[in-house]
Amino acid sequence: MTVLIAGCGDLGTEAGLRFAAQGHRVVGWRRSPGNLPPGIEGVRADLDTELPPVPADTDVVVIATAASERTEDAYRRAYVSGTSNLLDALARDGVRPRRILMVSSTAVYGDHGGAWVDEESLVDPTEPTARILHEAETLLLSRESSAILLRLSGIYGPGRTRLIDQVRTNKAVLPATPRWTNRIHRDDAAAAIVHLSTAVPSPSRCYLGSDNEPAHLADVLRFLAAELGLPNPASGASAPTRGGDKRCSNALLRSTGFDFAYPTFREGYGAVLSGIGARHR
Ligand SMILES: NC(=O)c1ccc[n+]([C@@H]2O[C@H](COP(=O)([O-])OP(=O)(O)OC[C@H]3O[C@@H](n4cnc5c(N)ncnc54)[C@H](OP(=O)(O)O)[C@@H]3O)[C@@H](O)[C@H]2O)c1
Repeated sequence: MTVLIAGCGDLGTEAGLRFAAQGHRVVGWRRSPGNLPPGIEGVRADLDTELPPVPADTDVVVIATAASERTEDAYRRAYVSGTSNLLDALARDGVRPRRILMVSSTAVYGDHGGAWVDEESLVDPTEPTARILHEAETLLLSRESSAILLRLSGIYGPGRTRLIDQVRTNKAVLPATPRWTNRIHRDDAAAAIVHLSTAVPSPSRCYLGSDNEPAHLADVLRFLAAELGLPNPASGASAPTRGGDKRCSNALLRSTGFDFAYPTFREGYGAVLSGIGARHR
């Protein structure tokens, strides 16, 4: 079986390596495919233009592209035009994959005043970029009955150390008003992509990908400071959390038999810090 990863960046590559480890052929499409690791066949492709031939035996397609910048135009090109072009290329080449999975974001839910959200919750994006993402989701579901949406919360992991860097450089601020934040380790996100694409016989149309424990940002920052042997960050007014105040439920994903390697930020950031030798400063 061939797995096509359209937009094969950090997350797509980690998922691709996991598909390859299961013995699948993995083809990674991106505009600069030069640095893809062994195990993934890189193909130069721009989802915004004419696409290369789709491998005839493509059984799974993962859409994991990202916008190059945080503008509506870039989002529209990456997600809406990109998805539409990809579906056109599948039709053009007569390829009917068993699964098409789009990596989306819990940002589509907007702000729910700190309440729990799940797959049935009202989609009410507050940011224009999230509205465009939801437009791409709707486009995909309307054209492909086999499609699955995986709405991820904030991804962290190797090389994705924004909060750690803020604590280290004394730029972190404990928010005066508690707001919920939700996250998933990059490796769990990649594992969820593979699990939903290969191990769930009758998947739902949509899953939330977020770890077991929504957390207040202040608790995460305090944890990181303690792990780094640094004093707690100062309290103060902070910029509003992107994506809105809500708690993301992963119950549906877990009901499919998915186990998180990093169930909370504590295990996940612990692993990231070990990986970069933070405890051995
Ligand atoms: N960051 C978060 O916390 C977060 C949260 C929720 C969901 N997500 C979603 O997770 C997904 C993947 O994120 P990521 O971290 O893996 O992003 P990433 O590392 O930036 O990977 C995205 C890849 O898409 C490729 N790409 C962009 N435009 C393209 C185009 N026109 N044609 C072909 N390839 C294109 C880029 O490669 P080239 O530049 O070489 O083309 C890049 O390698 C995204 O859909 C993002 O919205 C992220």
